[in-house]
Amino acid sequence: MATAPKAKTPARTKKTSEKDGPSGPSFFSSGFAFPPFIGHRGAARHAPENTLAGLRAAASMGVACVEFDVRLTRDGVPVLFHDDTVERTTDGRGRLGALTLSQVRRLDAGAWFAPRFADERVPTLVETIRVLAALNLAANIELKPEEAQGAATARAVLAVLRERWPRDRPRPLLSSFDWSVLATLAAEDAGWPRGLLIRTPRQPQWRAWAVRVGAAAIHCGARGLDRAGVEILKGAGLPVAIYTVNDVRRARSLWNWGATAIFTDDPPRLLAAP
Ligand code: G3P
Ligand code: MG
Repeated sequence: MATAPKAKTPARTKKTSEKDGPSGPSFFSSGFAFPPFIGHRGAARHAPENTLAGLRAAASMGVACVEFDVRLTRDGVPVLFHDDTVERTTDGRGRLGALTLSQVRRLDAGAWFAPRFADERVPTLVETIRVLAALNLAANIELKPEEAQGAATARAVLAVLRERWPRDRPRPLLSSFDWSVLATLAAEDAGWPRGLLIRTPRQPQWRAWAVRVGAAAIHCGARGLDRAGVEILKGAGLPVAIYTVNDVRRARSLWNWGATAIFTDDPPRLLAAP
């Protein structure tokens, strides 16, 4: 992906009719380039979420940017994982944060999805960075801390990024529902762009937190979101990314209302929008 130009005013893609589909990437002053859609947890409808197979599937489908979730193992290693507990997406039991890396690595994170993904492992952030570079994928890293582990999670992710993120690649966008995590990231190293995750524009205090953490984008839930809601989000003057949309008509409406990007489990469906 090209390096984003330094622009004071965010470039926006104007949509003119309900027939418009996604257009090219939008570049913002944070340096993070939003494509029209982002593969959610890789490409969660097509491959096991938050796995390297998922990233490869997304890349093979023409996805330019993937979102994935990161948690810490008991011994403090950032790995790709969504839930608090491992039952839904692995063959193990218990809390992810209660397992050491070596215990997590013994889990099968693919067979639950389909037999052909059996033996897929829970990836570390370190190995994921290598794969992102090899696949030329941009990334949104969502940090999901355990209770009272926000600062530790932020610091562990930053430590990996500083050491391992290739200097010649655009930096990933870091997001979290836990806004204190974003505040820690901003205080520790403001050079990594941050996205404020919210569930609805009606959520109190989000604008103040967007300013406080120096957010480069607002990421908002699609549920119940209408044109007026998107207008409210856009009022913050930042790119707006909406999760999670797998329906083409719904995606079109959101783009036409001014959403910058859409998180989807099903990139081919949005790509093939007639
Ligand atoms: O980052 C957007 C989206 O992934 C947030 O929700 O629960 O799928 O991580 P969740
Ligand atoms: Mg997520």
